[in-house]
Amino acid sequence: MTEAVTAAPSRTAAAVRLRGVSKAFGSGKTRLLALDQVSLDVAPGEFVCLLGASGCGKSTLLNLVAGLDKVSAGTIDTEDARVALMFQEPALFPWLTVTANIELALKMRGVPRAGRRPRAAELLDSVHLGGFARKRPHQLSGGMRQRVALARALALTEDDTDGGQGTVLLMDEPFGALDAMTRDLLHDEIERIWRQRALSVLFVTHNVREAVRLGDRVVLLSSRPGRVVEEFPVPMDRPRRIDSTEVASLAAAITDRLREEVGRHGA
Ligand SMILES: Nc1ncnc2c1ncn2[C@@H]1O[C@H](COP(=O)(O)OP(=O)(O)O)[C@@H](O)[C@H]1O
Ligand SMILES: [Mg+2]
Repeated sequence: MTEAVTAAPSRTAAAVRLRGVSKAFGSGKTRLLALDQVSLDVAPGEFVCLLGASGCGKSTLLNLVAGLDKVSAGTIDTEDARVALMFQEPALFPWLTVTANIELALKMRGVPRAGRRPRAAELLDSVHLGGFARKRPHQLSGGMRQRVALARALALTEDDTDGGQGTVLLMDEPFGALDAMTRDLLHDEIERIWRQRALSVLFVTHNVREAVRLGDRVVLLSSRPGRVVEEFPVPMDRPRRIDSTEVASLAAAITDRLREEVGRHGA
């Protein structure tokens, strides 16, 4: 059955296209197959959530798409999109102010010095941190630090010509360490920014409700080695409430499927 579900619909354009992607670590007896023949598309402007048990290869897959590691087999095509990756830990430079963290990212993108300060201010406003520009990361809450990390990820995809349109944003359990209330707020934010900027998002999580809250589509990976086992379109209108009955009921169905998968592999 796997073939039938992984065969991608014949879209003309994809912001991200994976075909038969496998990834093994090590060699000989210690060889570990992390991903097995993963095929997956993210359409331009689509929000795809990648869901799977811990250790199933989600981070491996994002790292491959980000170009931080090489596939063992298969192909990954991101067209010429600008790709940004955001992790669970914000990984900001602690000795730099919030503004300076963003400015550094803009500098890396080649934004001229004179343009960096005002652009950093706009980016911080867009994540509602306008008043915290001169703070250092340790002076912020976890949720605020993740907002800075989001602004920085957006800064890393800056382009003078289109203000960041056509960007692929890869998010690796970005809200996993936050309390539920902060996470709910950040769900609203990321959804707003995704829409405003027409981002294509590949969002990794092991939280089923989070995946249903955010995704146009939820792609379920098997336990190691990660394979696409099933895709669930999410038909509900946005914004969705994570505690709504519609979200809960689709999440329950997906959870059943996930349990089946984890059980099968004895993970
Ligand atoms: N650099 C690496 N070297 C060896 N094994 C790795 C490496 N990165 C990940 N793995 C292994 O690949 C599997 C998938 O890891 P990962 O992608 O981090 O899973 P997830 O993000 O879904 O929790 C795990 O068994 C992990 O131990
Ligand atoms: Mg991971």
